[in-house]
Amino acid sequence: MKNKQPHPTNNILYSSEDIRQRVDELIDEIASTCDTENLVVLGILRGSFIFLADLVRGFNRHKIHPRIDFITLSSYGAGTISSGKVKIIHDIDVDLKNADVVVVDDILDTGRTLQFARDLFIERGASSVRTCVLLDKKRERAVEMEADHAGFRIDDVFVVGYGLDHNNYYRELPHIAKLTFDTI
Ligand code: XMP
Repeated sequence: MKNKQPHPTNNILYSSEDIRQRVDELIDEIASTCDTENLVVLGILRGSFIFLADLVRGFNRHKIHPRIDFITLSSYGAGTISSGKVKIIHDIDVDLKNADVVVVDDILDTGRTLQFARDLFIERGASSVRTCVLLDKKRERAVEMEADHAGFRIDDVFVVGYGLDHNNYYRELPHIAKLTFDTI
């Protein structure tokens, strides 16, 4: 039976091995800029959960022992177009006074989400806030925001896998794929 539905395994942009290698490099990169006793790693849910888990496990080989927490932010709803307004759905529970924060997100797109998070954590007393994303979309940002650490620069396409979703599906894929709506 023919069915029109998203088919995200035909268009693999980065395999799990590509991701593993690049995440390893990012771990070394972040570690080399990370001279602090008070590191807090804050993931933006839900897209960053796999990326953050891989990053922080690599910190151990650099003897970096951060506190870790998550904030749930939303700007997308159920579709593939950003609504433009960032909302806190679930907040962190960590005191950020004098902390050096690394904010981790899956993807930098319009820039609004990462900018919102960075400004929020500075407002709450962090001494420094660095940002790290796995994917950086090549597009004009809606706001002035670039990440301090970025894994891969990708074209302006909608991607899923390795934590990224469409309607909350496909997060479990070990690779990153372009979402297409093929007839299968
Ligand atoms: P902004 O536009 O605020 O977007 O920089 C960042 C958030 O939007 C989500 N996003 C995506 N999610 N595939 C996804 O699964 C994509 O191609 C995509 N582009 C943006 C993501 O949640 C990110 O935190």
